[in-house]
Amino acid sequence: TRIEKAGFKHFMAKEIAEQPVVIADALKHYIGTDGTSLNLPPEVDFATVDRITMVACGTASYACHVAKYWFEQIAGLPAEIDIASEFRYREPPLSPTSWALFVSQSGETADTLAALRYAKDHVAKTVSVVNVPTSSIARESDLSLPILAGVEVGVASTKAFTCQLTVLALLALKAAVDRGRLDAAGLATHLSALRNLPGLMNHALSLSQAIADIAEELAEAQDILFLGRGAMYPMALEGALKLKEISYIHAEGYASGELKHGPIALIDARVPVIVMAPRDALFEKTVSNMQEVMARHGKVLLISDAQGVAEAGSGTWATLTLPEAPPAFAPILYAVPAQLLAYHTAIAKGTDVDQPRNLAKSVTVE
Ligand code: G6P
Repeated sequence: TRIEKAGFKHFMAKEIAEQPVVIADALKHYIGTDGTSLNLPPEVDFATVDRITMVACGTASYACHVAKYWFEQIAGLPAEIDIASEFRYREPPLSPTSWALFVSQSGETADTLAALRYAKDHVAKTVSVVNVPTSSIARESDLSLPILAGVEVGVASTKAFTCQLTVLALLALKAAVDRGRLDAAGLATHLSALRNLPGLMNHALSLSQAIADIAEELAEAQDILFLGRGAMYPMALEGALKLKEISYIHAEGYASGELKHGPIALIDARVPVIVMAPRDALFEKTVSNMQEVMARHGKVLLISDAQGVAEAGSGTWATLTLPEAPPAFAPILYAVPAQLLAYHTAIAKGTDVDQPRNLAKSVTVE
């Protein structure tokens, strides 16, 4: 079937807008009809698994990076992440009772496929999280879980990323149950939080015009920094990747706490700094880093919820107020403003959003 833009100017805009629907589809697929139990294949049993190693490239690797926080914090399962091009050559020692998990939209990325082939002889199980169920990575892994995002055309990955996060969140919950870290009531609470996400994402999508206004100014910048702490750190990396991919503006994501170890040297009135900080347990730490930026006349865009913006928004250049999200799964919601910032900045610059220069949708050569 031919995929159309369905009234949108770009595939990327359509794919950003589709997220509430495709995430609801993925949740429906993997959650029982009662809404309180998981519906994963029986092979997904973490009872004897002592470690999980996640490997991917590009945006998919940032999904793994977020999931590392989930596996560790919710399931108490040691989790390791690496990009596939490094993993495949560093000959990492892997525990025979561990699992290796490969995340790929296309299922054909050469480095990720090579990493999977390496891991096969070393671990108890190889699991893939893919969008294309007929792909090489899906076929060659012991177990493959589809993310159900539907066809993604835009080179910059959007809906596949949030669907990857959704499936990884469900896997982390299963690991927590299998390891005795989460009882039925706790699981039901987390699942209900996940099922609320599509509604929250619709709210985030309604900020599109406000984000377009901010993007008009971002488009003037030479360099942009993204800051986040905890699971918002990989979201800062993803925000910067998305922006550089399609707007060609140099952008870097940093862990807020690392600011003083280097990037603060870049700050002046011309450098926008985008701070992704829901009002969670780490909020005050991130805000203190943000104030160091403001003291050096950095232009701060604070992305938070109403409480966060009320507490820390004064003196910033701009704020974006998202609905309050369940703390664990906030990264899935915060992907939306990051994508829209990149999209509208690229529009303001007049670049080719769906086919950015030098990039390919699927990288099947090394
Ligand atoms: C390319 C694409 C990215 C993608 C990466 C990994 O660089 O442009 O959007 O994140 O490959 O692709 P995969 O299909 O393995 O997720």
